[in-house]
Amino acid sequence: MTDKEFDVVIFGATSFVGQILCRYLADEGSEPDLKWAIAGRSQFKLRELKTSLGKSVQAVPIFVADSFDEVALNNLCARTSLVITTVGPYALYGETLLRVCAQSGTDYCDLTGEPQWIKRMIALYEDDAKASGARIVNCCGFDSVPSDIGVKFLQQEALKKFGTMCDKVRLRVKAIRGGPSGGTVASGINTITQAGKDSALRRELRDLYSLCPPGHRNMVRQDEIRVMYDNEFKSWVAPFIMATINTRVVLRSNALMNPSYAEQFRYDEGFLTGDGSKGQKRAKQLELLLKILIGLLSIPPLRFFLTRFVFPKPGDGPSLDEQISGFYDFRFLGRTQHGDEIKVKVTGNQDPGYGSTAKMLAQAGVSLARDVDKQKVPGGFWTPATVFGDDYINRLTTNAGLSFEVLSTIRG
Ligand SMILES: NC(=O)c1ccc[n+]([C@@H]2O[C@H](COP(=O)([O-])OP(=O)(O)OC[C@H]3O[C@@H](n4cnc5c(N)ncnc54)[C@H](OP(=O)(O)O)[C@@H]3O)[C@@H](O)[C@H]2O)c1
Repeated sequence: MTDKEFDVVIFGATSFVGQILCRYLADEGSEPDLKWAIAGRSQFKLRELKTSLGKSVQAVPIFVADSFDEVALNNLCARTSLVITTVGPYALYGETLLRVCAQSGTDYCDLTGEPQWIKRMIALYEDDAKASGARIVNCCGFDSVPSDIGVKFLQQEALKKFGTMCDKVRLRVKAIRGGPSGGTVASGINTITQAGKDSALRRELRDLYSLCPPGHRNMVRQDEIRVMYDNEFKSWVAPFIMATINTRVVLRSNALMNPSYAEQFRYDEGFLTGDGSKGQKRAKQLELLLKILIGLLSIPPLRFFLTRFVFPKPGDGPSLDEQISGFYDFRFLGRTQHGDEIKVKVTGNQDPGYGSTAKMLAQAGVSLARDVDKQKVPGGFWTPATVFGDDYINRLTTNAGLSFEVLSTIRG
């Protein structure tokens, strides 16, 4: 528990995902005795949100702060133990808050999926976070909780069953339904725009180990997922768009863990498209679609046109029906170096990017505030898998619609 006035402040409460998160905290995800407040740049919008959330949150205070206003953010951090932020693109709006948290010892959770920004923040503020005791946890949404916590769950089960962890894990997306929001589109476009101007950044974005700490010892060449037949899953596979952030986070987790999953640990993610010629055709179509999209977004006038007239705008996103009918089903296959095999399934109800992400992020903040002992987990930049323990998995399964299940184990 905390001696500060608030356990958690939700910064960006009025964003598309922030509103879902606040509704969730006010309602089904409510945590007993949680002292929380909402924050954002517009008092008017925050008041409107509070009214729409109903009677149970009328005592929840409002903070007005712009993401570039260091004084206001310092005042906010002086009054809370932890900030959850949804103000993105983080590479555009996130640095001041992260710096203030790192320097003031305020715990922090976000939803960024921008590896280049995380890398820069670690380089700039890791020493501050270690000195102040602030635990900084990026990627607490669909990127990269199901992947990172899914691998951790698989490794814990492998250890129980085989006495050793897997040195190779593959994630395959079996099924998924959901759509993007304006904020996510804006983050993707910002990364593509930055990369278009900067060849060093393009190289960095291709580096699967870009988030591993200097001196990490995992040197194994990782498999690159292109359209291919996956014998182990008996299906064609296409690239999975979120692998660009998830693989970096999982490899960072392996590098930070003590002991690591494996010194030479292999991890990849792909999208299952089915067996036979239909599966092959679908995999090729998906890959082509991805290439066309990235190609179009790399051309400034087309990017402008798509942003202006086609993609959702900041503040927009999937409808309530789309959120409720969304879901995802991830399959993991792990192998130890002795040939043992474990299969795991991780699912989430509701659409991955919003309904499910809001709950994962809320529970990440609550778990960091309530379950993660400062003496055992000191200040620094952590990943979901390295900071959270079984309490978080319990919260996800009990309160956030996720499931973690071992499907089979075979001794080698
Ligand atoms: N990792 C994941 O799985 C995942 C999933 C979903 C979203 N995301 C990320 O989460 C972020 C939010 O997404 P979204 O769709 O909810 O975005 P959104 O609806 O566009 O909201 C962006 C928020 O940022 C606020 N904002 C912008 N400039 C600000 C400033 N100068 N000071 C203070 N606040 C400012 C906006 O305030 P107003 O409300 O006042 O306009 C709004 O609340 C994005 O970065 C997105 O990429 C990640």
